[in-house]
Amino acid sequence: MKNRTLLLLFIFISINAFSQKFEGLAETPPMGWNSWNTFATDINEELVKDIADKFVELGLKDAGYEYIVLDDGWMSMERDENGDLVPDPVKFPSGMKALADYVHSKGLKFGLYNDAGTKTCAGYPGSRGYEYQDAKKYAEWGVDFLKYDWCNTGKQNAEASYITMRDALYKAGRPVVLSICEWGDNEPWTWAEDIGHMWRVTGDIINCWDCEVGHGTWSSWGIWPIINMRGNIRKAAGPGHWNDYDMMEVGNGLTDAEDRTHFAMWSMLTSPLIMGNDLRAASKETVKTLSNKEVIAVNQDKLGIQALRFSNEGDFEIWVKPLADGEWAMAFVNMAEEPKNLDFDWNKHQIGDDLNNRRLDVKNNTFQIRDLYNHTEIGNTGNNLKATIGSHDVLMVRLKN
Ligand code: GLA
Repeated sequence: MKNRTLLLLFIFISINAFSQKFEGLAETPPMGWNSWNTFATDINEELVKDIADKFVELGLKDAGYEYIVLDDGWMSMERDENGDLVPDPVKFPSGMKALADYVHSKGLKFGLYNDAGTKTCAGYPGSRGYEYQDAKKYAEWGVDFLKYDWCNTGKQNAEASYITMRDALYKAGRPVVLSICEWGDNEPWTWAEDIGHMWRVTGDIINCWDCEVGHGTWSSWGIWPIINMRGNIRKAAGPGHWNDYDMMEVGNGLTDAEDRTHFAMWSMLTSPLIMGNDLRAASKETVKTLSNKEVIAVNQDKLGIQALRFSNEGDFEIWVKPLADGEWAMAFVNMAEEPKNLDFDWNKHQIGDDLNNRRLDVKNNTFQIRDLYNHTEIGNTGNNLKATIGSHDVLMVRLKN
């Protein structure tokens, strides 16, 4: 009897020892670059090396960007005779281990993409039935991040499928950020906290301010449709588990003002900051936006509280985000097609975050106001905040003690 109890206890402990995600990763939203938005499946090892070099050269590594992730299209169409995934030999002649080594040699981290179904969205081999084998391969290659998609999954249960991959990665033993990508279809914000480190909340992003582009059975979405698509999911975000508003389109054809707003909003929403542009061809303005350390600091704030919409009356969308040490970030976005004047009277607004029980108390405290794009102090909460904000541009501020 005693032996049986011990045996059961042993089995229980063994199962649970591998049934968890890697903790301590993504304590703040992951920052990096992903190939899909610009290159789709047209990727290769030179591109990855160039991007790694650009991370360093352009100051992006210094600003906090870390992961370089190859999306769909890195594999050969067939597994090998052992059932292993094979990198496309033309695109990646040196193999994935060598490429991961190169990325690591720059002090950066390396990510790959696969899919929970039988095939990826672009038709390459999916991980269904090969989860443990694939996870072992990723560990051998030195993979630090896995984006795990949801095409060709038939009647698979999403939660169970992502748990399988989580456990497979854990068993393989190399810490990997698990990026869940099922487009919010199964509401991962209600079940994925202990499974992945981030989960997409919508279908694919596209480089427009406010549009939907149909592709038959699915649509791509502009910046504002993505921000507005889900109801109140902010409570699901926090250290180690983030709502992912998709790879960014900064530098991909929006105006500079729209890029600033897009970047400000992804930072406010504690979304992972995953660049999606061609860094080899990025303009000065694009790099300036993407590497704005004061905006990034809002995204990376250690409390990890996702912003809430304070109001969207008139021409301005106003978002607020509690930060550590009683400070706050705010974004005033001009949604109009022409410049607008903001005149914000602090005493007439009760700003608070009920979910986290925080109030912005401007009666008993005076906060200094820092403009995070112009890097200047612009007064304090004792006076109205006045500014002219260009069309689709943002005034992003930090209220400092
Ligand atoms: C899905 C994902 C995209 C991208 C493609 C690759 O559409 O949502 O982000 O990974 O698949 O095929």
